[in-house]
Amino acid sequence: QRRITVRDLAAAKERGEKWPMLTAYDATTASVFDEAGIPVLLVGDSAGNCHLGYDSTVPVTMDETAVLSAAVVRGTRRAMVVADLPFGAYQEGPVQALRNATRLLKEAGVGAIKLEGGERSLPQTELLVRSGIPVMAHLGLTPQSVNALGGYYVQGRDEEAAQQLLRDAKAAQDAGAFALVLEMVPAELAAEVTRSLHIPTVGIGAGAGCDAQVLVWTDMAGMTSGRVPRFVRQYAKLRETLGDAAREFARDVVDGAFPAEEHSFR
Ligand code: KIV
Ligand code: NA
Repeated sequence: QRRITVRDLAAAKERGEKWPMLTAYDATTASVFDEAGIPVLLVGDSAGNCHLGYDSTVPVTMDETAVLSAAVVRGTRRAMVVADLPFGAYQEGPVQALRNATRLLKEAGVGAIKLEGGERSLPQTELLVRSGIPVMAHLGLTPQSVNALGGYYVQGRDEEAAQQLLRDAKAAQDAGAFALVLEMVPAELAAEVTRSLHIPTVGIGAGAGCDAQVLVWTDMAGMTSGRVPRFVRQYAKLRETLGDAAREFARDVVDGAFPAEEHSFR
């Protein structure tokens, strides 16, 4: 069984078929999503907040990304695995971007990489694509810039920002990106970007007009503690389920109800 490729995703856009993407940060969870038929798994730098206990994506390192990416690749057979280049791993320029992206392909075995920015990341995208590395772009809210943006807000709301987003999207496509994440963008603008491009758009908080949709898996499955963003739908209550399991296990141990006869060797 072969993995999903950029050709499959291009064909899906031609046929007008929507597809789902989820983040994954470990082999076990990735194998669940692979078996569920999720075609694209993103080793997002959201691992910073959702897996590694940082309070943003900014501290995530290349070493961490390589370890998590390799685990997700090992846990999957069919999904295309895309890895985020973390903050500081491509901003110096195209050569740095190529060195770090190459590491993720060779060491971790990912099939594509993602980086934030349109026009500002053009030289990086061009060199990666020319080198044979599929690139997914990421526009709208770009969390690696949270310190400059002053928080996690909807992007592209005024006319000037909307025009810049359209230019960024075109720039990413022209540089050879095979897909484009649109994060926290007004639905009408995301739909306009989607119609104006021949590459698929992957929305998160960007309305129903995108070609694909992505969610952070811990948000999607109700594993996140506390509030989740408004654009999330929670499909399970994993945090509650897992907490209940842990509490029940603890009670059984204290009460002497576990282990029972069938868990013991004679
Ligand atoms: O890091 C991440 O999870 C992402 C998605 C939200 C697109 O970049
Ligand atoms: Na990310």
